[in-house]
Amino acid sequence: MVELVEKLYNTGNLTDEELKQLIKTDDNTSAELLRKYADEVRRKYYGEKVFLRGLIEISSYCKNDCYYCGIRRSNKSAERYRLTHDDVMKCAEIGYELGFRTFVIQGGEDAFLNDDFMCGIVSELKANYPDCAVTLSLGERSYESYKRLREAGADRYLLRHETADDDLYSRLHPQEMSLANRKQCLYNLKELGYQVGAGFMVGAPFQTTENIISDIRFMQELQPQMIGIGPFIPHKDTVFRDEKGGTLELTLRLLGILRLVFPKVLLPATTALGTISPIGRELGLKTGCNVVMPNLSPVEVRIKYSLYDNKICTGEESAECRNCLQRRIESAGYEIADERGDYIG
Ligand code: 5AD
Ligand code: FES
Repeated sequence: MVELVEKLYNTGNLTDEELKQLIKTDDNTSAELLRKYADEVRRKYYGEKVFLRGLIEISSYCKNDCYYCGIRRSNKSAERYRLTHDDVMKCAEIGYELGFRTFVIQGGEDAFLNDDFMCGIVSELKANYPDCAVTLSLGERSYESYKRLREAGADRYLLRHETADDDLYSRLHPQEMSLANRKQCLYNLKELGYQVGAGFMVGAPFQTTENIISDIRFMQELQPQMIGIGPFIPHKDTVFRDEKGGTLELTLRLLGILRLVFPKVLLPATTALGTISPIGRELGLKTGCNVVMPNLSPVEVRIKYSLYDNKICTGEESAECRNCLQRRIESAGYEIADERGDYIG
């Protein structure tokens, strides 16, 4: 098993069979070596830097009905909200003062977030904060829409592919959604010059090791600049309420593998990872992650953007995620970089 880790470190790739062994093993020696190499590679390219992305959750309305997600349209218990243009500007102002140089505007697929509305937000953010990157995470939109948003100044786009396997995709999503369309969106975004983030949930219901290998293969083809993975966490008002969640061990294993397959990628230690373990994000940072995405949404709405149960940073105490994270990042042996943190090409 140790030889597989050495091979992955030296060549940046493994065969399907080798990947399968490495993903499934419970050998601690190889897990520890993987962590060590992942950290070595992240330090080679990014030193001790951790980039912060201020996350502004703009709307909890969503027209989609993904079976795993707490804000799916058929969840009648979900509280819905939308931020106004001015709300978003206010969040950004606070974020800028706190040192954020990337704003991520994320929301459900909400028709209210049309091109005019979103372009207005993007262009004002870019005008007010020319030294900041604007990232969007608004789901599937048309080529034309992505083009307009890009022309308004958006730099990056996060759209997890969720799974690169057609069969699993159809078990996690209603019929009207398709993996082909999802992939097309990602290729369109790349063509338009966005820095693109793909990714998937670890331990999603029905997910097999082969499915995870397909995810890695798809991303080797797409070559995203960012990869977002986090454990699946069941939400009480969804079809998958009684399913098991993804584990810390497997998520860390995959983060380490991803760092070695994609040495320069921007890899967040996600909020979901911080939710399944109080030191999940710190362990992620030590296993190749170089990004964290603290919540900048107004504290009153945070609980309503509930994709999964027990999400951290939603209570009153969390108004100061920036400071909390600084302590955590430093305790793990890294430092916050007050920079845009672009992909290093
Ligand atoms: N558990 C973990 N992650 C989830 N997401 C949605 N629902 C859940 C859940 N129950 C992830 C999806 C989506 C991202 C915004 O959040 O991968 O792309
Ligand atoms: Fe949000 Fe710690 S990062 S409260």
